[in-house]
Amino acid sequence: MRGAEEADAALYCDLYGDPGTMRFVGPPLSRERAQRRFRQVLASLGRRPVERVLLVIVEKATRQSIGIGAFQDFDTRRRRVEAGMMLRSEARGRGFGSEGLRGLVDFAFATFEVDEVWIQHAPDNMEARRVPVRLGLSHNTDGESGKLTWSARRHSWPADRSVSGLNRNAIDAKRN
Ligand SMILES: CC(C)(COP(=O)(O)OP(=O)(O)OC[C@H]1O[C@@H](n2cnc3c(N)ncnc32)[C@H](O)[C@@H]1OP(=O)(O)O)[C@@H](O)C(=O)NCCC(=O)NCCS
Repeated sequence: MRGAEEADAALYCDLYGDPGTMRFVGPPLSRERAQRRFRQVLASLGRRPVERVLLVIVEKATRQSIGIGAFQDFDTRRRRVEAGMMLRSEARGRGFGSEGLRGLVDFAFATFEVDEVWIQHAPDNMEARRVPVRLGLSHNTDGESGKLTWSARRHSWPADRSVSGLNRNAIDAKRN
């Protein structure tokens, strides 16, 4: 993973404009709207205290940008942050989602003063649901707006956990 930059606008717009990718996320955005949103997101990345982090997930074997990971909603009082992820359709169902989320949680615990990383997804988003199950996140009961939420907690997140079936070299985990 690497930090997002100007040149990633096309990836961002492809993801947010694709009806398949957006199926459980929200209405797909027009190119123009997605470009506007991307510029706003990029502009917000430099704010301190940190409000948001946007990372690009790169497949190591091909050097292709296959998706994005993000952190938002930093809650300093509860020491928690929300993580999210979107992959291009051709990159899905190949284990990158699980490897990507694991990388995001590792990154968060190494970088931010948080003890919890949480994610949310629509209840019928079965692909998204398998990922936290596979990684052993705990299911929360306080889901907002009907979404399912899951948490990884620092005290129970082993640094050396290996996830069965994942190619740990598939993603370049550059941290910047
Ligand atoms: C959610 C998402 C990141 C998951 O990534 P992924 O690369 O497909 O996940 P993985 O390949 O690691 O697969 C995870 C599990 O889902 C399973 N899976 C894949 N496609 C599936 C499908 N269509 N239906 C049910 N399960 C599916 C995999 O077999 C795997 O299960 P296993 O652990 O039992 O083998 C990806 O699907 C995505 O980007 N979706 C669109 C955006 C989105 O909905 N984001 C999440 C909510 S904001």
